[in-house]
Amino acid sequence: MTCILGIETSCDETSAAVLRPDTPDPLASLVILSQDVHRIFGGVVPELASREHLKTITAVVDQAMADADVSGDAVTGVAVTAGPGLVGALLVGVMYGKTLAYAWDVPVLGVNHLEGHLFAPTLEFPDLKPPFVSLLVSGGHTMLLDVRDWGDYRLLGQTLDDAAGEAFDKVAKMLGLGYPGGPVIEQIAAHGDPGRFRFPRPMLKDLKKPGPRRFAFSFSGLKTSVLRAVHQSADLEADRADLARGFQDAAIETLVEKTACAAEVLGYSQVTIGGGVACNRALERQMADRLAGLATVTVASPKLNTDNAAMIAAAGAWRLARGERSGWDLEPSDRLPLSGLNPSPGHQDQ
Ligand code: KG4
Ligand code: ZN
Repeated sequence: MTCILGIETSCDETSAAVLRPDTPDPLASLVILSQDVHRIFGGVVPELASREHLKTITAVVDQAMADADVSGDAVTGVAVTAGPGLVGALLVGVMYGKTLAYAWDVPVLGVNHLEGHLFAPTLEFPDLKPPFVSLLVSGGHTMLLDVRDWGDYRLLGQTLDDAAGEAFDKVAKMLGLGYPGGPVIEQIAAHGDPGRFRFPRPMLKDLKKPGPRRFAFSFSGLKTSVLRAVHQSADLEADRADLARGFQDAAIETLVEKTACAAEVLGYSQVTIGGGVACNRALERQMADRLAGLATVTVASPKLNTDNAAMIAAAGAWRLARGERSGWDLEPSDRLPLSGLNPSPGHQDQ
């Protein structure tokens, strides 16, 4: 019986999972250890991330195996994040995964982290099948994908500057809130007045005309507008929730409008959201409201949207089942391209 060990160490989560894809309840275990050390620095420190992964990888993998009640001889393949991400952090998982696979005499497969985020909803919604539009929004990426089939993707647009999660993190810093910023912004924005700060909706006017900017995103102008408002505030303590609300509303409206327009243009009846920012319930709600009657919106639960090894095992299981394997010379890459990603054909049809 197929049994995949997934390993994820691309950033500041050390994670391992065991997946039995052919069973009714495939996720046998998932362990996620978040590295707290970065909170002190207000962002991820790459060198510290690698060291923390090294310290904990053995315990995290052992725990995932114990939780699933399997030993090495039951594992039929190892799927490990090979990029994109912090190269030193990735290296720990890749070396560990290769070593286990070699010792157990099973194939190893390097998985693209973004394809992991793309597969995450399948763990809870096994009937999810392409075609659909996927909005991938994390701390490092903001991408709108036309998922024609598993392994057959077309990039509709991506961010020209900051990633969506990065914008949440930077705005949180401006407001004197901790890291990561997304969850705390969402929490305080819920109590903010939506009418007090109306920030620009970046690149929404580009939706009207087909072209390369139509489905592209930009968050740096929005971030600067928030910074200006922060500087002008006479009482940041009193304005904090309203500023968070103004920022979140602007960011979400942009993400929702671009995704909904892509679904309409392509005539798709399904949309998924993945990556850490997909934990944001206001984003999920507004996406579902905007697409009501047009498309269903599928979002995995938070622990499968932030970085985790279950999604890596899910993407890896699909590719391993097709016979794909990495060589023992597998190395991490901070800019690993997404396999199966095709360029947009001239944008005429968008
Ligand atoms: O996918 P992820 O765990 O790591 C990367 O691959 O980058 O995403 C982390 C990002 C962080 O920027 C974090 O602030 C954001 O996801 N995030 C959120 C929420 N929860 C996490 N952003 C908005 N609202 C949230 N509730
Ligand atoms: Zn991620």
